[in-house]
Amino acid sequence: MIRATSQKIKTYYKLLIQNQMMPKKPIYILAIESSCDDTGAAILCNDRVLSNKIAGQEIHTKYGGVIPELASRAHQQNIVPVVSLALKEAGISINQLNAIAFTQGPGLMGSLLVGVSFAKSLALALKIPLLAVNHMQAHVLAHFIKYEDSKIPEFPFLCLTISGGHTQIVKVTDYFNFEVLGQTTDDAAGEAFDKSAKILGLDYPGGPFIDKYSKVGNPLAFKFPKPKSKNPLDFSFSGLKTAILYFIQKETAKNPNFIAQNRDDLCASIQHTIVSILMDKLKLAVKQTGLKQVAIAGGVSANSGIRMALAQAETKLGWQCFIPKFEFTTDNAAMIGIAGYYTYLQNNFASNNSIAKARLSI
Ligand code: KG4
Ligand code: ZN
Repeated sequence: MIRATSQKIKTYYKLLIQNQMMPKKPIYILAIESSCDDTGAAILCNDRVLSNKIAGQEIHTKYGGVIPELASRAHQQNIVPVVSLALKEAGISINQLNAIAFTQGPGLMGSLLVGVSFAKSLALALKIPLLAVNHMQAHVLAHFIKYEDSKIPEFPFLCLTISGGHTQIVKVTDYFNFEVLGQTTDDAAGEAFDKSAKILGLDYPGGPFIDKYSKVGNPLAFKFPKPKSKNPLDFSFSGLKTAILYFIQKETAKNPNFIAQNRDDLCASIQHTIVSILMDKLKLAVKQTGLKQVAIAGGVSANSGIRMALAQAETKLGWQCFIPKFEFTTDNAAMIGIAGYYTYLQNNFASNNSIAKARLSI
């Protein structure tokens, strides 16, 4: 009898929590991101972000790309100050932390090692559990961070994950259940932006510069090819990069000032080509799956062209689109924190023998 009553109470409380009628027990998570060239630390209280700090690494700009050895050294320098700042801004003490989430992979081994080792040492010292997070899953799960006006997708939905290292269309059926429908067979969308920018003599990472100059350029001024792939949902960007390179070489041979005179139109045309390749594949994925909830994630989801294209798809195609807040697009620790939070709820704690994994599929 007593058992039946306590079971009823448990079910009642579960329902209250599910319906958000009762505040959940606060779970404080410190999240660490160090997969590439940004050292990130964030503090979450359940699914809300209390602080989200990033130390970028300008050192790579002069080399035109990320130098792995320099990235790991910079992470070593940055990690303690960034974590201290995140704790300070969140207004909590280190002893209030319930768990530490860290990026396990994929990423640069030397960079990952700094975050993984830091997280393991701190968890050991504080005697709290560890949460191992897949960076690509975290980009998608950033859509579950709660804030005022946040729009949260319902399962199942499609997500186009576009970053400097990856380009994928995934069907998301649960927090940790992802089916890859298509992916790049060579360069990622971010690389297509960055390599094109490099050809135009723009600084690394060039994606944001192409975006900026596109705003005043003509997207139809120059036409670049849209490569075909065997699986219609796969991507290929290396042919586009080569076509841009040959085109620029040919034009600058005739007119050495060609780039300077046409910078904005070149940027707008390159962006228009990349965005239409991405949108064509997304439309096909929607057609194939019948899913009309479409999210974008990863650094390239900061791009104004893809954001505008998705906004148009909402009105013209009846899609329901999910575009992340700017601070959750490029690499950040808040997304590691939200993925860590759902990992915590599943009691899926990582052991202290966990290792960094440069290659880790979604
Ligand atoms: O997700 P992310 O920060 O790092 C990786 O996991 O790779 O993505 C970085 C990529 C870079 O290639 C960068 O050029 C691109 O995102 N990116 C953009 C924009 N902002 C960042 N690409 C186009 N337009 C932007 N506004
Ligand atoms: Zn990323």
